[in-house]
Amino acid sequence: MVRYISICCLILGLTACTTEQEQAEIPIETTSTTEAVLPALHIQPDVYDLGDIKEGEAAIATFLIRNNSQQSIELVDIQASCGCTAAEPDSYIIAPNSFTQLKVAVDTTAKQDDIKKAVYITDSLGHKATAMLRFNVIDNPHFAMKKGGVKGIFDGQCAACHFEPLVGVKEPSKLYEVGCAMCHGQDAEGAYAPSLHGQTLAHLKQVITHGMGNRQMPGFSTANGGPLTDVQIQGLLTWLQALPEPKK
Ligand code: HEC
Ligand code: HEC
Repeated sequence: MVRYISICCLILGLTACTTEQEQAEIPIETTSTTEAVLPALHIQPDVYDLGDIKEGEAAIATFLIRNNSQQSIELVDIQASCGCTAAEPDSYIIAPNSFTQLKVAVDTTAKQDDIKKAVYITDSLGHKATAMLRFNVIDNPHFAMKKGGVKGIFDGQCAACHFEPLVGVKEPSKLYEVGCAMCHGQDAEGAYAPSLHGQTLAHLKQVITHGMGNRQMPGFSTANGGPLTDVQIQGLLTWLQALPEPKK
């Protein structure tokens, strides 16, 4: 069976902020000359780095959305891919050469290490821009003490995306796509979570059934409170073992 899925890598390039260096030869008298080079819909900063955040604490950042065009715009679409991310502007309408603030909050429950979240913004003139937030999730000592009392990917509102979509799915490729790709990568090449290539059948079976003892990778079998039946897990194992190595 040939599996043909385009690798849809979201490469989050970190572009450097523009410095406010002036060109020595050309004295700039009005600000209007510099505005020509700015994007019409401009998010500042490009990337908001919040540094270390304790797991479970909200990662919150306020961006500026600038309208550098000569017309009034309306923000028609503001989207985050993960349900853990909320984004709300002070105002949806922005006057010409004006700005509004965009507050972005990420629920860091069950996250670990280096996390990047993107919010995609579209205005009524069709301009698109992206607000990028990054932070490093560190252990919360308070959580470690009350084991089991903390939510994992199958609990509460997380279940809507990380549990329910897997229930009853028969086709293994589909199952992988809705339940695993978001963490292990489109082709199991590894992303937030490790690559699933080159693993023994016994290890795959053990981990998928019983988990890794943490909340990002709990046991997926129904016996362990997960969404997958033994038949589904068996199908997934066969499919994973037959996966061709990802192209480099
Ligand atoms: C609306 C669907 C949705 C909901 C609800 C949701 N997630 Fe996710 N989750 C995703 C998607 C999609 C990704 C892939 C990364 C991305 O696109 O941001 C993801 C990625 C993750 C990751 C990998 C790290 C990362 O952030 O990229 C973890 C861990 C995670 N989710 C945990 C949770 C937890 C815990 C909850 C509940 C508090 C939750 N998710 C709720 C859709 C969702
Ligand atoms: C919310 C993110 C997330 C989702 C969804 C997820 N995993 Fe994982 N998975 C992880 C993380 C993180 C680890 C590594 C945990 C550790 O090292 O403690 C992991 C580890 C694994 C491992 C062990 C890898 C190794 O190197 O030992 C396997 C196998 C695995 N996952 C399979 C799956 C399969 C199959 C699915 C879908 C049914 C899935 N995972 C869904 C986050 C996720």
